[in-house]
Amino acid sequence: MDEVTEFPKFSILSPWPTVINRHVASGHENYAAEITGLAEQAVDGDVFALDHPAVNWLRKTIDARIKAYFDTATKATGCSWRVEGRLITRGMNEFQAMNNRPGSYLTGVFCVNAPARKAGLKLRNDSDTNTLTLVDPRLGMNMIGISGDPYTVQIWKIPAEPGLMTMWPGYINHWMTPNQSDEPFVLVRFDVLIGEGDDKEEGHTTWNRLAVLAPDAPAAKKPDEGLQKIWPTLFVKRHLDDCEDWNSQLAVLINDMEKQNPDLTTNSWLENFFDRQEAPVAWLRDRVTETVAGYLEEFVDFDFQWRIECWPNINHTGDYHAPHMHGWCYLSGTYYLELPPADPGGDDADVPSGAINFADPRPGINIVSVDGDPYSKPQFFMRPEVGTMLLWPSSLMHNVYPNLAKENRITISFNVVVNGPLPC
Ligand SMILES: [Fe+2]
Repeated sequence: MDEVTEFPKFSILSPWPTVINRHVASGHENYAAEITGLAEQAVDGDVFALDHPAVNWLRKTIDARIKAYFDTATKATGCSWRVEGRLITRGMNEFQAMNNRPGSYLTGVFCVNAPARKAGLKLRNDSDTNTLTLVDPRLGMNMIGISGDPYTVQIWKIPAEPGLMTMWPGYINHWMTPNQSDEPFVLVRFDVLIGEGDDKEEGHTTWNRLAVLAPDAPAAKKPDEGLQKIWPTLFVKRHLDDCEDWNSQLAVLINDMEKQNPDLTTNSWLENFFDRQEAPVAWLRDRVTETVAGYLEEFVDFDFQWRIECWPNINHTGDYHAPHMHGWCYLSGTYYLELPPADPGGDDADVPSGAINFADPRPGINIVSVDGDPYSKPQFFMRPEVGTMLLWPSSLMHNVYPNLAKENRITISFNVVVNGPLPC
């Protein structure tokens, strides 16, 4: 056998990396006493609302890192942002519970100091003091992890250091381990909110619209005993009665729109379809509005303002919608106007042409599934009928299989977008 002396040529790609900023801010020692002093005064609310030399220095430091994040990690240009922060002091055994930061594009922590563990404490050997702990956002990745693979560890630990600033995407679950010291641990927790109108590609305005959903998480209800469904995915399916005439009128309208805009399917966001004044549009807008209102009344224990953004889709033969989620939205939905016959799709006769498919939002759950468990199927697909309206959480990954019929498939999609005041 020939000895292999050359390493085979290949490229390692790393799609979907999680980008984290970690650096010790130069000059932090000059401001530690002043920030600690503010913390001792129990300054409440947004610390960055203060005009104070130490606060101004910290804001500048954070702004520089945010700019670097955009410049080097995302290449996004023209983003505006606002930073909100809270001064926090943790005493012995105080910690930050597991959380993520709804509405925050980035979130972070600046450590003013880093108290060491008190000597003589008897603790488990995996116990850490004042350690930021980030949870792998690629849930399920570690289910097939192998020993020694650093890319499949479940949690990433970043111990506190004086002057250490860490910043990460707001969707990542994280917690901070207890302060195992008599010395108070002083830190500034901050959120980076993206400015209005930065999601230009999608045509939305994006000012922190999700944060308003839960300014204060309601206290967890005492769980009942026995089997319970936690984090169920709430999904609405509704059939609109007496829709035939309205559907015909809507189809005429949308086909006319396509004549004006041949790229309607891929360039659909030229206007809010629900801003139109025609009677069939008003009919559907009312039906969607009452459905959303019913959903919120049933499931959401918090009052907030919302609006609906809507657009039509015409799928010609071969058209499909690749897997996607609807960013910066709360709920999404589709109304089915015209559907060609449900002929089999591709090589998989179980998936009819034009079916919509939803991926289990609990990645990895099916890795250890057992035969016959209906709650571990990785995909849920359905082929609605004409007159069906679906409504689902916008974070639910979905795709639409190709329309293999000669006739067009016409649907009307919508997003429920949150308006409202910023939390303080
Ligand atoms: Fe979609």
